[in-house]
Amino acid sequence: MKVFTTRVIPEEGLSLLQRAGFTVTQWSEEKEMTPAQRVQYCKDSDALLFAGGEKLDRAFLEQCRHLKVISLLSVGYDNVDLKAATELGLQITNTPGVLSNATADTAFLLMLSVARKAFYQHKRILKGEWGFSTPTANLGTDIEGKTLGIWGLGNIGTVMAKRCKAAFGMKIIYCNRHRNEAAEKELDATFVTFDELLQQSDVISIHTSLTPETKEKFNKEAFRKMKPTAIFINAARGGIHNETDLIAALQEGQIWGAGLDVTNPEPMHPDNPLLEMPTVAVLPHIGSATLETRNAMSRIAAQNVIAALTGQPVPNPVNH
Ligand code: DGY
Repeated sequence: MKVFTTRVIPEEGLSLLQRAGFTVTQWSEEKEMTPAQRVQYCKDSDALLFAGGEKLDRAFLEQCRHLKVISLLSVGYDNVDLKAATELGLQITNTPGVLSNATADTAFLLMLSVARKAFYQHKRILKGEWGFSTPTANLGTDIEGKTLGIWGLGNIGTVMAKRCKAAFGMKIIYCNRHRNEAAEKELDATFVTFDELLQQSDVISIHTSLTPETKEKFNKEAFRKMKPTAIFINAARGGIHNETDLIAALQEGQIWGAGLDVTNPEPMHPDNPLLEMPTVAVLPHIGSATLETRNAMSRIAAQNVIAALTGQPVPNPVNH
């Protein structure tokens, strides 16, 4: 049996696949394959381990309906036309659970970085601007005791809330499709409406998936309802905020700062005005990018492939 991986994957997952007796072909070039190459590699394979690349749309899926599984090396699956995959009988799997800590850590890192203008301060040193300092210059803001609003209190959101409560005694409010009573108890968290979340939060952190309902939910209207001192953090998906509206909200002082691990599009263009703003921190979608986490993700993605190719139920189905 043959497995194609769209990127070189971490050792743990790779060796699992090899020990299971599969032939693994990896795309090892540092540039994207062409659509025709991708189809060809998939045609020659029994399973696709998708570790990055162009969206898996209907046109592509139609040419790959023979695949026993498309195993995503991610928890998010907004990059797949799931309706088409399901109609075509294609099994999609993902890697939930193991990346919650690393992704929440990234949101936490962004929150502190924005609060203390850390990326901007670093740039000042690089530009030789450290020289003259005054007690009123380059001031950030405290996080201690402030209100954290979580949008999407699932696995990642809960870890972020725990970290913020333990480190800074933050008050936790959250907005979800459903109440999370276990988390409410553990975190002393309060369930609020979306508007209350916008109005009451000092920091809003997004931990929901990108769906038609969440697409550009953070837009002009939402930013206008936030506190002028608020920090907006998105370590989920760039499509959840409207970038033009975010830039305007920051320029007009409707919110104070923003920390983004995800942008729309990715990669962000180096001329993007957000990169020059003192109260903005942008990272290149590294939420789950630690050695331990990526190894764990590759193990789970490999286990999904192995199950599918040996006729077992897949551990982490996204459809069917
Ligand atoms: C995920 O797993 O969805 C992370 O964002 C990495 O893509």
